[in-house]
Amino acid sequence: MRHLRIAIDGPAGAGKSTVARELARRLGIMYVDTGAMYRSVAWLAVKYGIPPSDEEAVVRLLEEHPLHFETNEQGELQVYAEGHNITAELRTPEVSNVVSQLAVHPRVRALLTDWQRAFSRMRSVVMDGRDVGTVVLPDADVKIFLTADLRERAKRREQQLRAQGFEVSAEDLCVQLADRDARDAGRDTAPLRRAHDAHQIDSTGKTVGQVVEEILSIVERVVLQ
Ligand code: CDP
Repeated sequence: MRHLRIAIDGPAGAGKSTVARELARRLGIMYVDTGAMYRSVAWLAVKYGIPPSDEEAVVRLLEEHPLHFETNEQGELQVYAEGHNITAELRTPEVSNVVSQLAVHPRVRALLTDWQRAFSRMRSVVMDGRDVGTVVLPDADVKIFLTADLRERAKRREQQLRAQGFEVSAEDLCVQLADRDARDAGRDTAPLRRAHDAHQIDSTGKTVGQVVEEILSIVERVVLQ
């Protein structure tokens, strides 16, 4: 198969990571969760009590505690900090609440963007995030902008978090997701935005399988061109 780069962007909780993981599995290519990279910086900031608004301090933190990104046998990104695999610790409400505050910093973004581009040069990728189609891989072969109704996104996130043992309410999550979207879309550097050449898919009321099939048919058209 030819070298493929598929970008999936969209607001918080639209189902990007579930869809991207399944799509990568079906195509047998690597899945790069760029949100996990930003979350790993937030994980360090929470651990060391660094204010996420302080760009200088966050950059210093990354110099003192370098992160390592690797792929596992399933072709999924794994994050290592201080010699431990922290991938399973990145989706806590605490990390979710600070991540978009440090994702505004241009120097943090530049560092992570370099890593993301390096992955896409080495391997065919499905990469999901906020700025993949606009900034990280502006010449991606396929660009998807995945959305869903806010209430449905909050409900899905509530189910995910409850399954992990967190006590959360869909009402609170609605407010938190909307806050995060506003911060992500409102920042100066690489804001959340639909690329002009992205296919917009609304996943409200659709299963993961349906959305994956929809994207696969777009990928097939591109590959057969
Ligand atoms: O899974 P969910 O939609 O909740 O978020 P995520 O993809 O894990 O991303 C978490 C946060 O990281 C986002 O709200 C953004 O603040 C930041 N992010 C970003 O700025 N740029 C990216 N390419 C990916 C994530």
